[in-house]
Amino acid sequence: MAESPKKPHVLMMSEITADGKLTLKRGASSKILMKYMDPATEILLHTTRAEYDAIMVGSNTIKIDNSYLTVRHIKGKSPIRVIPSSMADIPPDANVLSPDAPTIVAVAEKAPPDRVDALRKKGAKVLVAGIDHVSLPLLMRLLLEEHGVKKLMIEGGPTLNWHMLHHRLVDEIRLIHLPFIVGGSDTPSLVGGMHIDSEQDMIRLVLKNHYLCGTNLVTEYDVLYP
Ligand SMILES: NC(=O)c1ccc[n+]([C@@H]2O[C@H](COP(=O)([O-])OP(=O)(O)OC[C@H]3O[C@@H](n4cnc5c(N)ncnc54)[C@H](OP(=O)(O)O)[C@@H]3O)[C@@H](O)[C@H]2O)c1
Repeated sequence: MAESPKKPHVLMMSEITADGKLTLKRGASSKILMKYMDPATEILLHTTRAEYDAIMVGSNTIKIDNSYLTVRHIKGKSPIRVIPSSMADIPPDANVLSPDAPTIVAVAEKAPPDRVDALRKKGAKVLVAGIDHVSLPLLMRLLLEEHGVKKLMIEGGPTLNWHMLHHRLVDEIRLIHLPFIVGGSDTPSLVGGMHIDSEQDMIRLVLKNHYLCGTNLVTEYDVLYP
């Protein structure tokens, strides 16, 4: 029998425009786009957060969006917030370090000790998961084995999304489709990183559900790796 992977079950959830973008332009906060989500979809997002043990976004999303990543709009427990930041350079006044929910910052061994101390002083748990850079497979194992995270949702951005898919760590994708086109060849889209070289490398998705949530189309997929 195949050994089950030592990682949580991972859902990637994102709001995307009709042209697959996550924000208005490079460097812009996705909060601007999120204002146009139907209130019912906002509730879906927060209900999903409450169903998960932990939520992860990339450190650049923290710098640009300054997200709280808590459960609001409904009653429910906020998940553990997880931020991979190899050099521990999350701004010490970032909203994600608020006392509303536990926060884990995953860093590399090379992270400067003064920055690590500043994060600890703000109440964050600092997890060393890699030498030069955060190793996402190692982080997944530590979250499962040492922090009891059985279900993890990730909410972007595109760099984190690419690395998670590249390491075959994402099991499901749920997209909230926003009926806008923003354009821009360098506007962040759902998945960034490197292009693939051949059709054999395409990651295939199996559509398993689609529905309207308020006025927004929601699609749900299982991920099949080549
Ligand atoms: N519409 C939406 O649902 C949505 C959601 C989230 C974000 N966004 C948008 O996405 C944009 C930001 O995306 P982004 O691609 O620039 O950044 P990102 O994916 O949020 O963060 C990437 C950063 O995470 C850190 N990191 C640490 N370890 C990593 C690892 N193993 N793999 C990958 N990343 C790792 C790296 O920074 P270090 O080198 O410093 O560690 C990396 O540069 C913003 O405009 C934001 O508004 C949209």
